[in-house]
Amino acid sequence: MNTEFRTAAVIGAGTIGLSWTALFAGHGLTVRVSDPRPDLAEAIQSALDEFTPHLAQQGLEVDGIADRVVIAADIADAVRDADVVQENGPENAEFKKDLFATLVREAPAHALLLSSSSAIPATAFTGGLADASRVLIGHPFNPPHLIPLVEVVPGGRTSDESVAAAVDFYRFVGRTPVVERKEIPGFVGNRLQNALSREAIYLVEQGVVTPEDLDKVMTNSLGIRWATVGPFLGSHLGGGPGGYRHMAEHIGKSMKKMWDGLGKPSQSPEEQERLIEAVEKAYGSSTYSELAETRDRKQIAVLSALDSAAKEEN
Ligand SMILES: NC(=O)c1ccc[n+]([C@@H]2O[C@H](COP(=O)([O-])OP(=O)(O)OC[C@H]3O[C@@H](n4cnc5c(N)ncnc54)[C@H](O)[C@@H]3O)[C@@H](O)[C@H]2O)c1
Repeated sequence: MNTEFRTAAVIGAGTIGLSWTALFAGHGLTVRVSDPRPDLAEAIQSALDEFTPHLAQQGLEVDGIADRVVIAADIADAVRDADVVQENGPENAEFKKDLFATLVREAPAHALLLSSSSAIPATAFTGGLADASRVLIGHPFNPPHLIPLVEVVPGGRTSDESVAAAVDFYRFVGRTPVVERKEIPGFVGNRLQNALSREAIYLVEQGVVTPEDLDKVMTNSLGIRWATVGPFLGSHLGGGPGGYRHMAEHIGKSMKKMWDGLGKPSQSPEEQERLIEAVEKAYGSSTYSELAETRDRKQIAVLSALDSAAKEEN
């Protein structure tokens, strides 16, 4: 399996594909992009204009980045020299089935074939392939040029060599890959996110807090904690010197009682409409670009602070 990465193909250049394109080119790869959207050239240009400063802030060499991004005539043209293919088309198993059959046929035999799919596991779209050994999920969080995690999820027929090569690749482009050994809908990150979102919607539906105040609770407490320690280390520390054992045997008992009472939002059409209007009332006076710019600026500040703290430790 390949361990040298020079050329990447990006298939599908929407929200995720454009961000991957910038990240890969920022790490010196030639990136060949395929997407039938008529405004592809403009979309790539504006993504590079927006994301290149983010990459420079992460210390990457961005000179000539645009020269490393090539618009391919079609999928076969995008993948013909690829060491790695990152697929970011519509979240639809039939689409991915057809596309991966083409990728297996057209990409070089050593190329890794990765899908950004948020919820569809590789096994769901590789059944018809004679060889699925190099197909697997590389699920990022939006935007992948900033958020480090990539969930690496092999399908039933993915080889161990491909899993190891995917880990190497994502490390090569500065990401933090985590290998998940069982396919489960939503993988790990989105399951955690959805468990939290379900309770957040419930609390707003019940009139306990407004969407804006719920976001304030999160960003002023768990958001900060979880950028530094995950839920398990957080609880280990929460137990004091007695650690996780003390936490589980002491406060854990009352926490467990709470599990039965966690919310199931009704999300009837009326409740959903009420929630949408409440979120729009909170944030609708700013444009998408303004909100995204603020989010990205703060995320870069957090990443840079964490990076400095890690350097101080070493
Ligand atoms: N948006 C997110 O937050 C997010 C996060 C992680 C993973 N993902 C996953 O990434 C994938 C892409 O999501 P997105 O949000 O970027 O979607 P998107 O709708 O923004 O982009 C999809 C792109 O695929 C293109 N496309 C359609 N048919 C194609 C074809 N035949 N060949 C090449 N390109 C084609 C479309 O023109 C579009 O530009 C999905 O599988 C999604 O689940 C999304």
